[in-house]
Amino acid sequence: MLKKQVGVIGMAVMGYNLALNIESKGYLVSIFNRSHEKTKEIISKNQEKKIFPYFNLKEFIFSLEKPRKVLLMIQAGCAIDNVINSILPYLEKGDVVIDGGNSFYQDTIIRNRYLEKKGIYFIGAGISGGEEGALKGPCIMPGGSRKGYFIIESLFKNISAKINNQSCVDYIGENGSGHYVKMIHNGIEYGDMQLISESYSFLKNILNCNNIEISNIFSDWNKGELNSYLIEITKNIFNKKDNKGNYIIDSILDEASSKGTGKWVSQNSLELEEPLSLITESVFARYISNMKNQRIIANKKLNGPYIKKNNFVKKELIEKIRQALYLGKIISYAQGFSLLRKASEKYNWKLNFQSIASIFRSGCIIRASLLDKISEEYENNKNLLNLLITPYFSKISNLYHISLRDIVSLSVIHGISVPAFCSAISYYDGYRSINSNANLIQAQRDYFGSHTYKRIDQIGSFHTQWV
Ligand code: ATR
Repeated sequence: MLKKQVGVIGMAVMGYNLALNIESKGYLVSIFNRSHEKTKEIISKNQEKKIFPYFNLKEFIFSLEKPRKVLLMIQAGCAIDNVINSILPYLEKGDVVIDGGNSFYQDTIIRNRYLEKKGIYFIGAGISGGEEGALKGPCIMPGGSRKGYFIIESLFKNISAKINNQSCVDYIGENGSGHYVKMIHNGIEYGDMQLISESYSFLKNILNCNNIEISNIFSDWNKGELNSYLIEITKNIFNKKDNKGNYIIDSILDEASSKGTGKWVSQNSLELEEPLSLITESVFARYISNMKNQRIIANKKLNGPYIKKNNFVKKELIEKIRQALYLGKIISYAQGFSLLRKASEKYNWKLNFQSIASIFRSGCIIRASLLDKISEEYENNKNLLNLLITPYFSKISNLYHISLRDIVSLSVIHGISVPAFCSAISYYDGYRSINSNANLIQAQRDYFGSHTYKRIDQIGSFHTQWV
């Protein structure tokens, strides 16, 4: 029987759409899913396609041409290990196993080592783009076996998103680096979404804009510096009505859940001692959103400010929000890329930041015009310490920081919670401060714990008998 060129295990949304994408590029695809019903349903819906169902892992693996290319699109965690161990007896040296899910990068490092010993090439690939991206072309961040990557490179290039005829995929680095970059991508996505939502709070609650006005504002913003997929979909969300003619946004409960990558990246920033405050605040904001019952109680007990009627010049403030949003986004990316840099050093991944920014430009959820600028800055300086101090971003920061301050101040005065904007300006001021207040922290630590302190006028460690 004719051998198939690619095998996909896991037929949930991402796996199914990737299998269709791969097939559409002319490959013969074998598919397998734990529950057979899903496989049958897919086959009945796609009878004319070159997708071949299997209900037994041995037959599935044996259906593939060598070296076999097996893409796992299954739930992150122990399911990945279970499936790897189930297919291992049928795999041969030189076969390639790709985990395209949202696995934790440390797990990918372990799996990479485990499979390397058995002669299997293992790739941990971050894949972003949601359902549509998986079907039409996602952004792919593959890390792990370099030899394995060469075997699947043309496949990945064929199925990925394109920008200016370039594929949005590039080999990221050793072991868990692909999944690490995807984790950073997801963290940036949390930050972007939170900043956009805070801008919405401001437009709705302080400027009293209605949904159509808000949609038009996002539409205008999407034509300029803020141009991005997330602004585009936000514009559309505010336009959408249900079948009763009501705006859907007004009927959606204000609680947002998460799948864990935001938590991972925040925990990782603490571990690597790199301030990722904006993304972490965005994760916390989701947790607060989920405290709906407590918020209802607190709302009755805790006062907000008394607000007099305002005579804002709407147009001016809308432009200030735009500037604050753009600068907030820049600060979030600066933090995210700084964490990437730290991780690259710690794990010796030798990450190419220019290439990472470049592949983020299409297919993925955080695709945005801003990434062109980030890519350019890394092209000019591969050893960049922080995006904020580059010529383009420092210029924008110097132009827009007053707007960010105004939006934060007005939000606080009006009792509107804007944790991402607040953390953005705090990081900005902290990062640019030549004298911090940590001299006092040093003194306190020495006072109560004899931890010693360093001086500005002498080298060495000092201790004072404070009492
Ligand atoms: P999504 O987020 O796209 O919905 P996911 O939760 O990451 O998907 O992964 C779901 C897929 O993992 C499904 O194909 C699921 O198989 P079932 O349809 O049988 O539930 C698969 N999956 C989850 N746990 C698994 C396990 N232990 N072994 C094999 N496949 C598993």
